[in-house]
Amino acid sequence: MRQEALEKIILETIDIPSLPPIAMKVLQLVNNDNASLKELEDTIAKDQSFSARLLRIANSPYYGKNRSIDSLSTAMILIGFNTMKSLVVAASLRDVQRKFGIFEQKLWEHSLAVSVTASQIAAQTKMMKPEEALVCGLVHDLGKMVLNMSLSEQYALVIERVYSEGLPFLDVENDLLGFNHCNVGGLIARKWKLPKNLEVVIEYHHTDKFPFLDDPSYEVACQLTKIADSISLHIGTGFQREVALSDIGLEYIGYNEETITDLIEKIKKVYEEQKGSLMG
Ligand SMILES: [Fe+2]
Ligand SMILES: [Fe+2]
Repeated sequence: MRQEALEKIILETIDIPSLPPIAMKVLQLVNNDNASLKELEDTIAKDQSFSARLLRIANSPYYGKNRSIDSLSTAMILIGFNTMKSLVVAASLRDVQRKFGIFEQKLWEHSLAVSVTASQIAAQTKMMKPEEALVCGLVHDLGKMVLNMSLSEQYALVIERVYSEGLPFLDVENDLLGFNHCNVGGLIARKWKLPKNLEVVIEYHHTDKFPFLDDPSYEVACQLTKIADSISLHIGTGFQREVALSDIGLEYIGYNEETITDLIEKIKKVYEEQKGSLMG
């Protein structure tokens, strides 16, 4: 089906939530060359739970390194405007959800697991910046979040079948809805005018073909997120599904089934540490 036809169907079927106002405002400021750091800080500081969340992510291993970031202005200077955009999106996602039940909790754990896995791979392989990989992991399943919220009754059937038959979400979504969380996520990313690196990861983290030849870093981000997603399913952090290590395409990141063992142990450890500090 052509892209436009598919998007039309999606738009007719689901309500597109709006990006939380705080994130909208911050992204506007970050995109405006004349905005000052002070203005940005004041805007973020107005929303306490948002700024607390932002600082928590900023202090996760790949932002914090060995220092502790205790103020927004330090975070901003150390992280830089560009990465800040992605971070703001990740930190605001919690505000998009209207309810937070068992599935929402699991999805959040899954996103965290993919984020930890992707950033560990990035740090080991130097294929991309670990902090960018971290944010890609946090936002990659945005489409699932919106589907679960907007089509809750139908999506409950998707979830049920995923669990009872051990199938990938993508296949069950295509089967029951006629489109999937990547289609929906990509559409929303464009509506929200998210940074391009996040948009491509949200839309292309389950594919083998990448239509963007203009910037090879996009493909790396998508591949890394995809591999991290499969590894986290294999480990069973967050969502769990039977995925054989031999089917993950580990050679893309320079590993094989044996050499990945140490990294997997590290990922499990960091995931457990982060789970405590990033929740809430
Ligand atoms: Fe996904
Ligand atoms: Fe995923």
